[in-house]
Amino acid sequence: MRDTLEVGQARTEEGTVDNRTYLLTAAPIPDVGMMLEMQDITYLKELDRAKSDFVSIVSHDLRSPLTSILGFAKLLKRIGPLNERQERYVQQIIEVTWSMEALINNLLDLARIEAGMDEELELCSLDEIAAQVVEEMQGVAAEREVRLRFAVRRDLPQILGRPMRLRQVVSNLVSNALKYTPPGGQVLVGLDATDTHLRMSVADTGLGIPPQDLPHIFEKFYRVQDAEHASRKGTGLGLALVKSIVESHGGQVVVKSQVGKGTIFTVILPVPDGSDGEVGQA
Ligand SMILES: Nc1ncnc2c1ncn2[C@@H]1O[C@H](COP(=O)(O)OP(=O)(O)OP(=O)(O)O)[C@@H](O)[C@H]1O
Ligand SMILES: [Mg+2]
Repeated sequence: MRDTLEVGQARTEEGTVDNRTYLLTAAPIPDVGMMLEMQDITYLKELDRAKSDFVSIVSHDLRSPLTSILGFAKLLKRIGPLNERQERYVQQIIEVTWSMEALINNLLDLARIEAGMDEELELCSLDEIAAQVVEEMQGVAAEREVRLRFAVRRDLPQILGRPMRLRQVVSNLVSNALKYTPPGGQVLVGLDATDTHLRMSVADTGLGIPPQDLPHIFEKFYRVQDAEHASRKGTGLGLALVKSIVESHGGQVVVKSQVGKGTIFTVILPVPDGSDGEVGQA
């Protein structure tokens, strides 16, 4: 704190005294000296710890019974011949358990990101991540008879991000585009960049989204209710996750859509400033 006077800039430090945590801010006052502010942040620290405990306990307690259900359902098939009806019921248990597992994973990912408990940022290449996801989804695209293409401008800058989360962004947007595009349609994943931002778009020639639904589609559990959309399975968490991941990277996601023509989602992410690893302004 003493060097605050020498450097002439405000500084903040955390410290612990008698089991209480304090935030100490020192700000120089020209020609006078220094102002010191001490804030007791013990309860904020406790709240933070409680949130972390909640996420890890819930994740463990919800996941372990599901693992047992899946394990025993798979075992049933192995311990003796099942008749056709029994086999169908066991398969249903397995499929419902899978979707429950996906739902819990999505909810926990959202909780982790919202609680600011995510992995550290690292330099990563969104084009490589997107190329890999597109490659992996070619099978689903072929099954749905939708053409999935990838177009990328060369020499894209790296960004500061969490590769696993960025994968989720691409994969949720591409799987939506494939899911809501009827056979014969197309999905195009495109990437380009300016000096300050990287832009990824996922465009489809599918059902589109009615204008009255557009403002709500990033809300948790929101799904378009018309017959065509509702006939496809989903929980309505995919886009909420996309939005919170993109925003936790300092970026934004926008959508444009025309019913019956198609939809385009655009993700804009800041590119680090020069080589010092600082993120440019969004
Ligand atoms: N590319 C798209 N074309 C048309 N409608 C879309 C598209 N992407 C999303 N939607 C609409 O927005 C809703 C919300 O999308 P979101 O990905 O959050 O949920 P979901 O796909 O229904 O379920 P989940 O992703 O959790 O399995 C969808 O139910 C769908 O109605
Ligand atoms: Mg989805």
